[in-house]
Amino acid sequence: MEPILHIGGVDVTRLTQALGTPLMVYDEGALRKRLAEFSACFQSPALSTRVVYAGKAFLCKAMARLVNEMGCSLDTVSGGELFCALEAGFPAEKIVFHGNNKTPAELAAAVDAGVGLVVLDSLPECQALTALAGEKRTAMRVLLRVNPGVEAHTHKYIVTAHLDSKFGIAAGRKEELYAVLDELNQSEFVTFAGFHAHIGSQIFDKAAFAAEIEQLAILAQEAEGKGYPVPVLDLGGGFAARYTDADAPIPIPEVCQTILDACLAQKKARNLSLSEVCIEPGRSIVGEAGTTLYTVGWQKETESKRYLFVDGGMADNIRPALYQAEYDCGAAEHMEAAKTETYTVAGKCCESGDILIEEAKLPPMKTGDLLAVYTTGAYCYSMSSNYNHLGRPAVVFAQDGKARLVLRREEPKDLLACETNEVLFDSFSSKKKNEQQEVVL
Ligand code: LLP
Repeated sequence: MEPILHIGGVDVTRLTQALGTPLMVYDEGALRKRLAEFSACFQSPALSTRVVYAGKAFLCKAMARLVNEMGCSLDTVSGGELFCALEAGFPAEKIVFHGNNKTPAELAAAVDAGVGLVVLDSLPECQALTALAGEKRTAMRVLLRVNPGVEAHTHKYIVTAHLDSKFGIAAGRKEELYAVLDELNQSEFVTFAGFHAHIGSQIFDKAAFAAEIEQLAILAQEAEGKGYPVPVLDLGGGFAARYTDADAPIPIPEVCQTILDACLAQKKARNLSLSEVCIEPGRSIVGEAGTTLYTVGWQKETESKRYLFVDGGMADNIRPALYQAEYDCGAAEHMEAAKTETYTVAGKCCESGDILIEEAKLPPMKTGDLLAVYTTGAYCYSMSSNYNHLGRPAVVFAQDGKARLVLRREEPKDLLACETNEVLFDSFSSKKKNEQQEVVL
């Protein structure tokens, strides 16, 4: 019997027999370890620090509870993520609320919940929040998201801080920027706490973070010179995960040290009032902890490819199709077999681009075998869809030989749960009748 993949000490064949495939399994110990490592490394005697997990990478109530247990804060980016966090009992004061187009209802939900920090994205949004906080007579603290113009080299859809980005205000647009700070200065209820920036994702270069910090420090120095104190800098996320052997993420202790050193150096050099620094890792916390298990279906040979079809695909992992993201995989029940074959691993969706791995090295695979695709913990479930009426996979947290189901599989009937036949109004048909009558007359 060949070695079988175990995750968190749990035999994955037992899990898939019980729960079916596709199945996502998180190594809960690895999630805890990452959160703990960031918390332990992002510490400074001279600054207060905060690790804010970016929920967009993967969020469910179990994840929110884990983040809280590990002492981290949580970045939410919509009313839906905020709702999930609050339902999980996540303390509102430890929530950072993001979004480039927060709706009035989302802003109201953030104020009502008493979230700790709202990250403002534009002047009109700032005006809406000051008005709302005034009406509700509720004190709020905010950061202002800016684009420092630092581009980390990553896929163009994932880059977020270039000057034409839809996020935040470009650092050079001084009039707009100071209009926000003025508005906040005049607000009785909303307090400006500092600047936020996020320069991209899957960043391998420490220098990108140092450049971001320098640009934010320049901005903070200027703002403080004009009488607006900037106690907080939030540097966003972007810490890389290892998807394949080609990826070499900066070790967490190293990247944390680089950030803290750069912040302290800038504080000193520019005499800043900076007292708190936040980071918002998402992918680097959950990415490598997640594995997706598929059952191999049929195979097909074409002119130049050997397709290996699996029972999921772009509906549960859109990243290869959207970003040309690369993944590594293994035969979950034959972990030590020689990888003698090359397959194109393709999903079951009606879309030619539904290819998970172009050139997967695997032992010979047959129908019914289990395929494990690694490092699927970030932005797979959270970006999943029901394309072709496929249900989302079940999600399991495994640790110390024990497994718990945190999200059950979506069944076809769940996909019909929003269907209704409710009649709303019939003015359209009556108008039509009148129009027709007029024509007849
Ligand atoms: N903070 C802010 C304000 C962000 O916009 C993001 C990601 C993060 C934190 C977390 O970044 P991370 O540490 O996970 O890189 N769907 C894409 C990633 C989009 C990231 C958008 N913002 C993907 O699948 O690669």
